[in-house]
Amino acid sequence: MKNLVILISGSGTNLQRIIDCIDSGEIRNAKVNLVIADRECFGLERATKHNIPNLLIKRGKDFYDNLEKAIPGNTDLIVLAGFLSILKPEFCEKWSGKIINIHPALLPKFGGKGMWGHHVHEAVIESGEKESGATVHFVTSGIDEGEIILQGKFDVEENDSAETLAQKVHQIEYDIFPKAIDLILNK
Ligand code: GRF
Repeated sequence: MKNLVILISGSGTNLQRIIDCIDSGEIRNAKVNLVIADRECFGLERATKHNIPNLLIKRGKDFYDNLEKAIPGNTDLIVLAGFLSILKPEFCEKWSGKIINIHPALLPKFGGKGMWGHHVHEAVIESGEKESGATVHFVTSGIDEGEIILQGKFDVEENDSAETLAQKVHQIEYDIFPKAIDLILNK
């Protein structure tokens, strides 16, 4: 059984999808050992509801120390599922090859500092892109620069807004994130 730690900052619908896919067997051979949030968020309630140990580690002076201490040594994969804190390079290097992120755009486009949440979707609309989607990638010290594991995409329609893109991207994420996790854990 492979041990997952999932880091979140928000509503945690991707976390929920991962939990559901482990239950249904779409993600094989995996257990969520711990959910960590960097702020109060609904995702923590989802973890509690599923009896998954969970922790709130607030941003601040001891944030990285507390985060490092909290992650069990037997962790096979750290999954960033809507986690908004930027992880420091030493942390990314320590867990190299064992830490992945989901990004709400087609990297390498629309990645990097400041490109998160609605900022991404607004930038896609403003640039007149013909398609958007989501990317699962390994995390390295360069923001959104690690090797791409899986992408899914859709056509941007003329009447799309940042809000409709966010909804469409989420649907893509629910498809590719569990697939990518299963792929990495059971390759
Ligand atoms: C996702 O769109 C993800 O790509 C981004 O944050 C969002 C998290 O959504 N990094 P949720 O909390 O899983 O609903």
